[in-house]
Amino acid sequence: MIGVMGARRERRSEDLFSELDAYAHWFVAPDPSVGHFLTLTLFAECSSTGRIARDTTSVFLRGAVPDDVMYDAQLAVSELVGNVVNHAVPDRCRAHAGGARRIDVTFKLYPKWLFIGVADEDSTPPLLPMGDFYSPELVTEFSEAVLADTGRGLMLAQRMAAAVWWTPKHGGGKTVWCRFDLDDGVEFGLS
Ligand SMILES: Nc1ncnc2c1ncn2[C@@H]1O[C@H](COP(=O)(O)OP(=O)(O)OP(=O)(O)O)[C@@H](O)[C@H]1O
Ligand SMILES: [Mg+2]
Repeated sequence: MIGVMGARRERRSEDLFSELDAYAHWFVAPDPSVGHFLTLTLFAECSSTGRIARDTTSVFLRGAVPDDVMYDAQLAVSELVGNVVNHAVPDRCRAHAGGARRIDVTFKLYPKWLFIGVADEDSTPPLLPMGDFYSPELVTEFSEAVLADTGRGLMLAQRMAAAVWWTPKHGGGKTVWCRFDLDDGVEFGLS
């Protein structure tokens, strides 16, 4: 009996991996004279999702924006994708038993701005956690006890990006967006 269940579980995970292979893709929009666009579809259940999101961010942005913007964007993407993995519960109408949760990462690079959107199937908005005030002396003495070890991701994204916000998606789900300002501008070639 255990053998049968084990084999079934293995088949299910094989199915999941072939599903991931089929859906994880790049889409590059064709008009580089206006801006550079990229969407990437990932699945929360895939163990390499966070790494793929970070690697894609650096491949897309390296050389196109200043390095510090690229590193900030990479960290923001990592946190936002991590949030989908850890918190997103697909809306009832979009949930299917045993199905993988979809994450769509969108990059829109214009001469003066970089927009990054991370979309999921959960209509619940992201929350900025309520802060507690601790006096600086207390933090020095009991830092492990008083410093939060969750609730930092969105705060980090807000610190690094010029703006962070979310929009509901038609048909359910939401997108969390970040905007990075490119102070010196970015020039686009024609290729
Ligand atoms: N994509 C999301 N879908 C649903 N809820 C979210 C999503 N992103 C964030 N949240 C909610 O917002 C809260 C704050 O997110 P944040 O990233 O700041 O902290 P965290 O994920 O709880 O902890 P940390 O990022 O420090 O590990 C989360 O605890 C969660 O309740
Ligand atoms: Mg988080």
